[in-house]
Amino acid sequence: MPNVVIIGAQWGDEGKGKIVDVYTERADMVVRYQGGHNAGHTVVVGDETFILHLIPSGILHHGKRCVIGNGVVVSPEALVKEMEGLAERQIDVEGRLFISERACVIMPYHVALDLAGEERKGAEAIGTTGRGIGPAYEDKAARSAIRVGDLLDPGAFRDRLEAALEYKNFILERFFGKEPFDELEVFESTMALAERFRGYITDTVSLIQKGIADGQNVLFEGAQGSHLDVDHGTYPFVTSSSTTVGGACTGSGIGPRSIDAVIGITKAYTTRVGGGPFPTELTDKLGDSIREAGGEYGATTGRPRRCGWFDAVVVRQSARVNGLTGMVITKLDVLDGINPLRICTGYTCGGEHYDVLPSGIDELTRCKPIYEEHPGWKESTAGTTRWEDLPGEARSYIKRLEELFEVPVAVVSTGQERNEYIELSDPFKSF
Ligand code: GDP
Ligand code: IMO
Ligand code: MG
Repeated sequence: MPNVVIIGAQWGDEGKGKIVDVYTERADMVVRYQGGHNAGHTVVVGDETFILHLIPSGILHHGKRCVIGNGVVVSPEALVKEMEGLAERQIDVEGRLFISERACVIMPYHVALDLAGEERKGAEAIGTTGRGIGPAYEDKAARSAIRVGDLLDPGAFRDRLEAALEYKNFILERFFGKEPFDELEVFESTMALAERFRGYITDTVSLIQKGIADGQNVLFEGAQGSHLDVDHGTYPFVTSSSTTVGGACTGSGIGPRSIDAVIGITKAYTTRVGGGPFPTELTDKLGDSIREAGGEYGATTGRPRRCGWFDAVVVRQSARVNGLTGMVITKLDVLDGINPLRICTGYTCGGEHYDVLPSGIDELTRCKPIYEEHPGWKESTAGTTRWEDLPGEARSYIKRLEELFEVPVAVVSTGQERNEYIELSDPFKSF
């Protein structure tokens, strides 16, 4: 005790990796519960930068146990690549990485279907990461997925693969006009990869539950962000998993009463990568300068991220949908020297006022933000670790955000490094 869930409160890339790394010191176990290697979680330690995609960001702390839960979709290729990349940098995962036997596998044909689907959509494309995430979750919901546990039984795996390919190859060839996959080739390459992690496959549900029963601190690492949630996000410009707090329960096998704190992560401004509505987007020079100052390029695909003003409607909705108990504001330092700052407090659309995001994508696209202006600050906040050392304007900016999203601020992050943050309250100590 306690168990803490980390949730992205915007459209992803809020700095979850950094905060998970900070909080892992206080945890015994870190659990990823949804998404796959579409995630890119950056952790900076001294002059070394690590980008974790599938393995929990807690892995950088020697001795901490890390779990890939049942709600994650696992690409054997991406997993092995990440394990090898960590081993090359002297991060040993042996004996402390656990992979759920219930997690569904991302197969090569899922990647091909993701790419072909996007290509076909043309201008209407979602702008996926092209990692096969959507098609893999489609198979899970259709009850035809291959699960990690199936890889332990080559005969059963081969049968499932045969059944899957009969259908997938038909769609790839006949609908999309793409090359089909050879069953034997897919079988052999997947088996070779599975050999590398078969020893890590286990019943993670029991493992997590035992940890909780033993009084361990468990940290649940969300991927993507609340507005990419398949139910609560800007559908259809979303990912295919439950990125909101319920996903931590279904994706790891715990009940909601085991969760003690739900910490949202938000940037001090807004970014989004891929398609979809973004009311406070800045398409001018200021947007470009925020992108450069914040290094806003995708950690997974390298795509430039779209940048804009802080949208309090977006973050307040996340606070409500997830029942957030605390908020972390990251990248305050990126706003240094910008004056004035603007905060979106609501939208107007067709003469109507909105203080929540409308569910219809066309309506949201037509929404115009209502801004209030806030004085910026000239001083550098980079690396600040004490609240008193922040410029007055920065403190009142944070206080105003807190008022608007209605959740107490727990941490303000002021740089990429592990130790660059101001802590106002500790979710592991408030119980
Ligand atoms: P995640 O997907 O939520 O883990 O976030 P990403 O790693 O994709 O993107 C966040 C980026 O911001 C990374 O490059 C982090 O190193 C960086 N970052 C996190 N917190 C801060 C901060 O407070 N200030 C600055 N300047 N960079 C930060
Ligand atoms: P982290 O965990 C930002 C976006 C994609 C696309 C949409 C669907 O680093 O915050 P998908 O490949 O999931 O089917 O793509 O979701 N997306 C992310 N955006 N950060 C992420 O992860 C993302 N993972 C997916 O850009 O718009
Ligand atoms: Mg990211």
